[in-house]
Amino acid sequence: MDDLLNRTRAAVWHPCTQMKQLEAAPPLAIARGEGPWLIGPDGRRYLDAISSWWVNLFGHCNPRINAAITDQLGKIEHVMLAGATHEPVVELSERLAQLIGLGHAFYGSDGASATEIALKMSAHFWRNTGQAEKHGFISLKNGYHGETVGALSVTDIPLFKSTYAPLLRHTVQVPTPDARLAEPGETAEAYALRCAEALEAHLAVHAAETAAFIVEPLVQGATGMAMYHPAYLKRVRELCTRYQVHLIADEIAVGFGRTGTMFACEQAAIRPDFICLSKGITGGYLALSAVLTTDEVYAAFYGDATARGFLHSHSYTGNPLACRAALAVLDIFEHDNVIAANRVRSIEFTHILAELAAHHRVRHFRHVGMVWAFDVADAAPGFSARFHQAALAQGVFIRPIGNTVYAMPPYVTSAEEMRGLADAMLICLDQPDV
Ligand SMILES: Cc1ncc(COP(=O)(O)O)c(C=O)c1O
Repeated sequence: MDDLLNRTRAAVWHPCTQMKQLEAAPPLAIARGEGPWLIGPDGRRYLDAISSWWVNLFGHCNPRINAAITDQLGKIEHVMLAGATHEPVVELSERLAQLIGLGHAFYGSDGASATEIALKMSAHFWRNTGQAEKHGFISLKNGYHGETVGALSVTDIPLFKSTYAPLLRHTVQVPTPDARLAEPGETAEAYALRCAEALEAHLAVHAAETAAFIVEPLVQGATGMAMYHPAYLKRVRELCTRYQVHLIADEIAVGFGRTGTMFACEQAAIRPDFICLSKGITGGYLALSAVLTTDEVYAAFYGDATARGFLHSHSYTGNPLACRAALAVLDIFEHDNVIAANRVRSIEFTHILAELAAHHRVRHFRHVGMVWAFDVADAAPGFSARFHQAALAQGVFIRPIGNTVYAMPPYVTSAEEMRGLADAMLICLDQPDV
């Protein structure tokens, strides 16, 4: 195992990592997975409490997803999607359109490529409809939409963004409806609506130069699971329609059941102009993202002039293996009635976490669907790394964001496994040096 850790340090540049820190805290070597468990070469088991960066839905090495990919491997592994098509990409596009009420799925690979696609498509739509000056973007304070240059421009997390500021285009951030920021006595809903007023004030002046407002519906994940009231989405939908600005729902993290409905926008009964999907779309198996939009947007690109079309591409767009994994995921949602089952699971797991919620170090315990989070009141610098290490010793793979600890387990996690997770988190919180 030491040999693998030495080799990874020598050969791999790990993501979102100051590599020197791996000297003191080497990455966890994983040899295989089984349901919600990650298993090391030494056979030690770790509960994957954060679904491997929020991508895994139905456990590692899921037999049904494995079978779909294996079957597809015997047919065609990949064919370029410009000038060719195939059954898995067509069926996936049809089924996503039916679920979401938007269509013409355009595929990318990772989440950030979906953000790029939605931003470019929005600005290009306005250009194609004679309003080329509408190319500005608005996003939420503390929002996260990925880290390629365009996506980072609408992201608002200084640690990831500041260094690259000279490379980025100017965008505008409006106040976040994060319920923790409500005034004493103010409800989450009232606060959310107050934040929407700030968006309206901006749109009233700048709509003519604005293409789109991009938002993470209900949960701002990467900033530390900031949750907010769905009234915000309802209101900003109205505002975007009134001021003729696109609403882009970045459901990359929250889509596919994470917030308790298949898509988070459903809780506000709204339809965005664009939806960005990735992460759970393949159950955490293969890199795939998709952007779906309205018929109106699609029609504005349709015509005789080549340059009017959306001339964007990625080599692996619509990869058949990834599409088959995604179709297997949709089958599991349907056959196992996952959304209804998760409703029960979510209530049960929240009960299991009650002792944790009442712990004297815990503040702002919050929960929506299959996401639970809390802030640790007296977290000293380095808390996240110490908690991570302490949890590993308890057989749990979890990575706090700053002083926020969160759990986003695969949907196949049992009540007993959740109890184990709650106990492990309590043990970590009770350690004076964590
Ligand atoms: C809301 C949101 N958008 C976009 C992204 C970027 O996705 P990726 O890391 O696959 O590029 C993430 C990743 O965490 C995300 O949470």
